Amino acid sequence: MLNVFQPTLGDEELAAVREVFESGWIGRGKRTARFEEEFAHHLGIAPGLLASVNSCTEGLFIAMELVNAGPGDEVVMPTIGFIGAANAVASRGARPVFCDVDPRTLNARVADIEAKISPRTRAVIILHYGGQPGEVAEIAALCRDRGITLVEDSACSVASRVGDLVCGTFGGIGAWSFDSMKILVTGDGGMLFVRDSELAARAAKITYLGLEQTSGLSQVGNADRWWEFEISSFSRRSTSNDLTAAIGSVQLRRLPGFVARRHAIAEYYDRELSAIPGVRCPPPLPPGHQSSHWLYWIQLDAGVRDSVARRLYERDVYTTLRYPPLHKVRLFADSSVLPGAERAALETLNLPMHQALDDAAVDMVVAEVRAAVVGHPVAR
Ligand SMILES: Cc1ncc(COP(=O)(O)O)c(C=O)c1O
Repeated sequence: MLNVFQPTLGDEELAAVREVFESGWIGRGKRTARFEEEFAHHLGIAPGLLASVNSCTEGLFIAMELVNAGPGDEVVMPTIGFIGAANAVASRGARPVFCDVDPRTLNARVADIEAKISPRTRAVIILHYGGQPGEVAEIAALCRDRGITLVEDSACSVASRVGDLVCGTFGGIGAWSFDSMKILVTGDGGMLFVRDSELAARAAKITYLGLEQTSGLSQVGNADRWWEFEISSFSRRSTSNDLTAAIGSVQLRRLPGFVARRHAIAEYYDRELSAIPGVRCPPPLPPGHQSSHWLYWIQLDAGVRDSVARRLYERDVYTTLRYPPLHKVRLFADSSVLPGAERAALETLNLPMHQALDDAAVDMVVAEVRAAVVGHPVAR
């Protein structure tokens, strides 16, 4: 079965893990600090503005704490998005206000966001669908004008850019995911960026029980009783560790190669699949935009999409849909009509897209999509 997602891990990651084992310390330590520095360099920001977290979801929960979202507040977000972002809002008693998306890119446009902003809007959370930056610069400008914090859920966009700016650094807060289905993987893990340095220091404390002192050992020199502590918030523990950080450092070095392979696959899919009658490929990226190519998607007429997905599955090509619209999730009790998103949800199918796909596998996907859409089986 060809999977939609697959990480690339090998000897280099194993050697890094071995080195951590041999060091005698696998918890949060100097490798975590080093990975934060390297990731900050990759983003082009100061390392002190990043905090390692155990998932992007946790980063989004912390983001909602930092913006102080609570009862009576609203947070605008595209309905085509990750459930963890909406949960982060609702779990604080605030209301996620879902907006529509462009049916072709599945990204929220600045007009979609603006239409939902009200005096109660505490923050806007966007993602970069499949890795495409979308109108992030315009949305960031809108949020700045209105004095609203923009939170970028950058799980899809570890290497996406507009010009020199990396997605996730346009707004006040950004969160990345290194879970096992992403491009840069550490098993589980994530990174949180907070633009304001005081808020970033608070975020770092929130990730570790709200402790004012990070370790007793670091206080031995200036306190008689180095085991005593104070807290600044009633926080939980959201930190990552040196094992995942060591894997992350290796993966970060390999990231340009991963993205280049994904780019080549996307170009090939674009060329070959757009020639199949009835198949619509993602629109071309605007000038200056770079995608991480986390997802590749095609669009088919609504009545055809599900049967094509089933036929592909029967031929060992797994497909899926990221993300079914959140406003349709019962618990949110939201009766909005969001036509662009609803159409996209009926027509879109994510195909296998990862750097481990070789040319033969990519050809197989194309041949099987052609056969499933046009109705002629492929001989194998
Ligand atoms: C857009 C988006 N945000 C957040 C996440 C969650 O990341 P994590 O698994 O690190 O919590 C995902 C996972 O697929 C995602 O696609």
